[in-house]
Formats: sequence, structure tokens, C-alpha cells
Amino acid sequence: MPKAAVCKEIGSKLEIADVDLAPPQAGEVRVRLGASGVCHSDLSVTTGQLLQPLPAVLGHEGAGTVVEVGEGVTNLAEGDHVVISWVPQCGTCYFCARDQGELCEVGSMAIMTGGLLDTTSRFSLGGQSLFHMAASGTFSEETVVPAMGAVKISDDIPLTSAALIGCGVLTGVGAALNTASIRPGDSVAVVGAGGVGLNVIQGAKLAGAERIIAVDMVEGKLERARDFGATDAVNASDGNAVAQVQELTSGRGADVAFEVIGLESTVMQTFEMARRGGQAVIVGVPKMESRFDVDVALSLVMGEKQVRGSWYGSSNVHRDIPMLAGLYQEGKLKLDELVSRTITLDQVNDAFEAMGSGEVARSVIDYS
Ligand SMILES: NC(=O)c1ccc[n+]([C@@H]2O[C@H](COP(=O)([O-])OP(=O)(O)OC[C@H]3O[C@@H](n4cnc5c(N)ncnc54)[C@H](O)[C@@H]3O)[C@@H](O)[C@H]2O)c1
Ligand SMILES: [Zn+2]
Ligand SMILES: [Zn+2]
Repeated sequence: MPKAAVCKEIGSKLEIADVDLAPPQAGEVRVRLGASGVCHSDLSVTTGQLLQPLPAVLGHEGAGTVVEVGEGVTNLAEGDHVVISWVPQCGTCYFCARDQGELCEVGSMAIMTGGLLDTTSRFSLGGQSLFHMAASGTFSEETVVPAMGAVKISDDIPLTSAALIGCGVLTGVGAALNTASIRPGDSVAVVGAGGVGLNVIQGAKLAGAERIIAVDMVEGKLERARDFGATDAVNASDGNAVAQVQELTSGRGADVAFEVIGLESTVMQTFEMARRGGQAVIVGVPKMESRFDVDVALSLVMGEKQVRGSWYGSSNVHRDIPMLAGLYQEGKLKLDELVSRTITLDQVNDAFEAMGSGEVARSVIDYS
């Protein structure tokens, strides 16, 4: 019986419980988690900002070891180290075939229903079925996931660091490398320097951006942003962040601006920070009823501004997870530095509270 953190209803703390885990069915694998990062999206489920069928085992940023394979699984074997992908990607549907695996029909259906690919769950508690957050459920010592939602990595990467690839790194670095079109020498603004924002920053650096402006309200977050490649820091609590970014970009605005918080107000600010002909890339997930009010004539048509949403870093996980693991091994991608503190599963509620503090990029549950 694995120990897991369960969200029973919106507004309540996660409960730690010994849950039942059914064996993997055909096309599934059981994974013993080595580590799971705590992402803002987990917190957003508990506040109701992000839709997720409940009750559920939360957690979607994990890495571990395959301990059992279901019938017909050929891509993984017992003992493999894997990063869990919270969008299982089939590789063959309409979207996967067009290199938009993050929108995979099969994976998206699983996420929406709260179960695995057949919409049912392997977790239960006292006979009541528990959903898997995003076809994962990594706030558990063990989980069962679709084999197409687990990607093999090399054994010598510490699982506490590898776990972060599963959401924050893939999402952030992917937004910079896949969603946006950053050109060498570009100026980039990143609004929100948390766990995901730091990865947009290091992705922008990899893409060759020259000026990378981090925007946050917490001084400690801005300091860390510099370690990840930010060349300038704007403290949004010092006044108009849009004006400060414009000032740093010859009055034009940034070539590419990213929103990595999930607030309607900062989505609008990010749009205003992008220069004429530039891009605003929205990564943060605001509450579901959020709207975005744009002046069509001046900004979109005459100003040629582009707005793009970015889901899971527009990533093909089967290609990008090994690519990011390789960059880490070559010393070109920071993962260890994202792990501000390791915690036990019982401390997961504290990790939600620590999210706002300047000391924490990511809290990571270490199951070892
Ligand atoms: N699009 C995707 O696929 C995807 C994937 C993962 C996470 N997310 C979303 O990305 C967002 C960020 O996640 P995270 O884990 O990095 O969160 P986080 O809490 O670690 O970081 C948020 C940062 O924003 C800063 N901030 C808050 N309000 C601000 C304001 N008004 N102005 C400037 N800075 C402000 C905070 O100080 C913090 O540093 C969340 O909305 C999360 O749900 C999206
Ligand atoms: Zn996440
Ligand atoms: Zn697909």
C-alpha cells in the first residue's frame, strides 16, 4: 500500500493516506517514485483554479523506477529509470503526427477524465476510486501510468533532479525553444521567476537571447533568476513593470515576453511588454473564466503582435525529455540548482506555503 497525498475537495489540505494501487493493465507500467517536484499547478488544483476531477492523488512532476510492466509494453522494462510525462503522447494521432504531441488526443482525453487512457483509475482509498492528476499522481510512493507517458532516462541522473524535467523544465525550456521563436540577440522578458519561469530563462539563454529581463515581486526570486541567465531584474512591486521593461528595451518592448504566473493582470502586462511585431507567450494558467481584452486594430493588425499559449512547452516528450537529460549531463542545463529543498511526502502542504518565499525555486519530495 503506497503512501500518497490525496486532494479530497477544493479548499482542503492534502491528506496523507495509505492507498490501494491496482496492478498495471495492458499498456501500463507501475513506477516506484524516486522524487516528485511540487508545482504551482498542484496548488491550483487545491484552490479550484485548475480543473481536476476529485478526489485525486495529486503530483505530476515525477521520476522513478519501473517496477512492473503490463501486457504488451515494449518501450520500457523493469528497472528502467523514467521521467513521467503528464501528457501521455501516443505518437500517431492527428496532433502527434503534426509535432503537437502536447495536444495528443489520447493523452488529453485521459487528463480531462482524470483517469488513465481507458478513463479508469488504479488508485483507490477504502474502496472509493481516486483519480490520477494528469494521468500521473506522483505524490505517491508508487503509481501506475500509461507506458506512453513514461520516458526512459539514463540511470546516473539523480531522480530528485530528473523529476523536474517532467513539468517545470519541459514546460519552461520548451516554451522558449519550441513555442516562441527567439532569435540570437533577442531581448526577452519573463514575468514570474518561479519554478517554471527560471526554466523559461534558461531556455531563452540556450536560444541565444542577449537580454533576459526577469520580472517578479520577490527579491530572492530575482536574485536566483540571475543565476539562471537573467541579465536584468525588474521588481514589479517598485511600480509599473511594463514601463520598466520598455525602458530596458529602447522604449520598444521585448522581442518575446512570457507570462509564467497565471494571473489575468500579468497576462495583459506581458502582452504590453512585447514590442510591435513581437510575441507574447502565455505559460501561466489563470482561472478558467479568465478573459483577455486586446485592441485589435492597433496592437494585432497594425502592431503585428502575436499571442501564443504554451502548453507543456509545446514538447514532444519522447524527443525532448532525453534531449533535456542530455543537456544536463553536458552541463548545459541546470537541474540540481532548481532543487531548493527536499522534503518528505508528509510535508507537501508546507511546500505549497513555501512557494511564495524567495528561498524556494522548487520543493522536491524525496521518496528514497
Ligand atoms: N502551460 C503549462 O503547460 C504549465 C505547466 C506548468 C505550470 N504552469 C503554470 O505556470 C505558472 C507558474 O508555475 P510555477 O510552478 O513556476 O509557480 P511559482 O509559484 O513557483 O512561481 C510564480 C512566480 O510568480 C511571482 N509572482 C506572483 N505574482 C506576481 C506579480 N503580480 N508580478 C510579478 N511576479 C509575480 C511569484 O513571486 C513567483 O516567483 C502557474 O500558473 C502554473 O499553473 C503551466
Ligand atoms: Zn506542473
Ligand atoms: Zn497522440
